[in-house]
Formats: sequence, structure tokens, C-alpha cells
Amino acid sequence: MKNTGKRITLGVTGSIAAYKAVELLRLLVRAGHDVRVVQTPSSRRFVGEMSFQALSGHPVALDQFDASAGAISHIELAGSDLMLIAPATADTIGKLAAGIADNLLLSTYLACEAPVVICPAMNTRMWNHPAVQENLATLRRRGVVIIDPGAGELACGEEGAGRMAEPSDIAVRAEKLLSSAMSTDVINKVDLEGVRVLVTAGGTREPLDSVRYITNRSSGRMGFAMADAALVRGAEVTVIAANCSIARNPGIKYIDVTSASDLQKAVEREFKRCDVLFMTAAVSDYKVSAGDTTGKLEREGKNDLQLVPTSDIVSQLQGNGNGGLKVGFSAEYGEDNRERARSKLHEKGLGMIVFNDISRADIGFESNLNEITIMAPGRDDIFVGKTTKRECAERILDQVVELLS
Ligand SMILES: Cc1cc2nc3c(=O)[nH]c(=O)nc-3n(C[C@H](O)[C@H](O)[C@H](O)COP(=O)(O)O)c2cc1C
Repeated sequence: MKNTGKRITLGVTGSIAAYKAVELLRLLVRAGHDVRVVQTPSSRRFVGEMSFQALSGHPVALDQFDASAGAISHIELAGSDLMLIAPATADTIGKLAAGIADNLLLSTYLACEAPVVICPAMNTRMWNHPAVQENLATLRRRGVVIIDPGAGELACGEEGAGRMAEPSDIAVRAEKLLSSAMSTDVINKVDLEGVRVLVTAGGTREPLDSVRYITNRSSGRMGFAMADAALVRGAEVTVIAANCSIARNPGIKYIDVTSASDLQKAVEREFKRCDVLFMTAAVSDYKVSAGDTTGKLEREGKNDLQLVPTSDIVSQLQGNGNGGLKVGFSAEYGEDNRERARSKLHEKGLGMIVFNDISRADIGFESNLNEITIMAPGRDDIFVGKTTKRECAERILDQVVELLS
């Protein structure tokens, strides 16, 4: 879904979240887009133009009355493929809704015929104010895409809604919008609202003694991508993370576990109150048979390490009373094992299984890319060619939404 070479106008307004626009710009530029930044006068009190200029490779547009050589006008800025305002203050949202044009960003918006996305950021009480909500409803009615803020700790020290969406999520949505097949209606689609999603991620560790363990190469990236994608689509998301050291999303609840048996206990507890389980974690098939693994094994001749199988967590999972959908992930060695993945659908009572071939070095473990086949009983297999794990997650969620409906 990469749309190289698109022109994006990034508007930055006077919110404490303006620093996040620097990261958003970096992601957009890294994706191959030509980004022009326009700042409101207030936003410059939060972040200066130098970072934006250095990252975008263009001077920052600041003043609509600037007639100097090289200054860019609101008409030129409005000619981009997408206008993104992040963060968007209550003040700017109000002016956009009212059609006020007393700065360069606002004039650009009025002249812009491309899709417009705004990412509000403000204190919870400002966010909840009817004036702000009515202005947002007006903009939504006019086709503006609103990426709602998340809940969490706000810069003002309070907790609640109003925290700007994460730059990585905004970048993914912008990318979708730039792909010709997607309309603003689709991007506004929140098709997992009210769905409780549980994701296991990472690789378990089985202790040999107090300092050593057996593990696998799973980083947790696929599971974290599933979780981030589900959150953006409106789900309430919990991740059971087995030894993952990747960045966490403030909108998601994480439960850290170490071994297969820790993971099993957490899944059994959490599955009772979830609608969809994504069993993305690579769970060890074996553990050391010795009951007590405390202490440290010394080098004393040959050691006949005995391994015994761990429990098959997903097969043993009891129904959760609300018909929870179980989605398995089958990492098999070699394409020939596709049928082995399919047989697990029935053996483990899964509603869906995602197959990937771990014999390939260019996808899967420790990579940001994957190539998958989505299988479900009575449905045609869906092949997703080599792409980002986030895109794989979106395609899996599309299928889950169909199954749930
Ligand atoms: C420290 C500080 C933080 C602020 N953070 C926000 C914010 O997150 N969201 C918001 O809507 N306004 C915030 N404001 C108020 C705006 O900066 C103010 O309404 C300003 O006029 C916005 O102008 P602009 O929309 O043209 O950028 C903040 C003000 C201060 C002093």
C-alpha cells in the first residue's frame, strides 16, 4: 500500500502535542512522500521551524502575507494530494468549521480540494465541550476525516481523552487514504468498535536454571502490529506480551509473561472476557522436565537434559461463553507444510489460521515484513504477498470483521 511520491501538506497548530508532528513528518518522508509543513503562529511557541525544515527538505510555510522569493502561497499548499493537520487545536478546529481564514493554514484548508485529515489534541474537558464536538461534527459532515484522540495521561497531568493519536497510526491512515481505492468513508470506518481483542505476542522462555533458558526468535512485532491495527479500528485491546522489547501503544493494556505456563494462565483468565483471540505468540513446544530449575547448572561432564511437551494452550482453551473467535498463527518450515497448518484449524478448534513460511529469511522472525495465507473453514484461502506486518494485520482484521458479521 505504499504511495511513493505523493504531496502532503502537514499543518501544525499550537498544542503541546506539536512535538509529535516531528515524528509524523519523519514517518511520512521515510515512506517516500514530499511533505510541506505549514505552522500556525501559536505552534511556533511549541516547536520551531528548524526540525520541520530539516526533515522535509523545504522551508516551513508560516505567513500568508510573505511575498519574498521562495515563499509558498496557500494556493500552492492546497494543491497537494492530502492535507493533514496534526495536532489540531480546539481553536483551529473551530475556525475550520466556521470558515475563518486568518492564517496560512486556515486559508490553505479552504482552498484545498484534496482529502483533509485532522488529529485533535487537547485537554479532556476541552475535548468534551459541546462547542468542540459540534465543530467536529460539522467538519465530519463536510467529509473531513477525524482521527480521534486516545485516552491516557495528558501533558497537563490529567488522565482522559484528548491525547493525540500516535504518529505511526496517523501515518498508516494517511497511507490508506492516499491509496486510490480508499475513500474518506473507508478511512473513517471503525469496524471493531465494542469488540474486545486479546493478542498474545513474542516468544516464551523455558528456564533451564535460574539464569539460562530456551527460547525462539519471535520478536512480538506481528502481535504488536495486530494489536495496533485493532485499536485504530475501534477495538478494546489487551496484549499478553512474552519477552517483547518493542515500543508500546498507550491505548493498549499489556500483561507481561515469561514462560509458556505463565502465558497459558494469562490467556485462560483474559479469554473469558474477550471476543477475538489472536494467538500470535511463539509458544515453546517443550520445557525442561526437571521440576525445580532454581540454582545454576555447573559444567560437570555430560548433561542429559530431558525435555517434556508444554500444554497446547489454544486447544485446551475452554469456551468463553460468548463464542469467542480463536485465530491461530502457524509458523511452518517450508511451503509444503501449508496442509499441516490447515489441519490445525480443525484439530485446535480455530475459527481462522494464518500460515507463514519460516524457512524464508526475508520475512517473519525479526523482520518487519511477512507473507501470509489466511485460512478459515469453508472459505477460500487468502494470500497476502510480502508486505509490512501492519498491512498483514489489516488484511487479517478484514477477514475477522467478515466472520464476526
Ligand atoms: C502550554 C499550552 C498548551 C496548550 N495545549 C493545547 C492543546 O493541546 N490543545 C488545544 O486545543 N489548545 C492548546 N493550547 C491553547 C492554544 O495554544 C491556543 O488556543 C492557541 O490560540 C491555538 O492557536 P492555533 O490553533 O492557531 O495554533 C495550549 C496553550 C498553552 C499555553
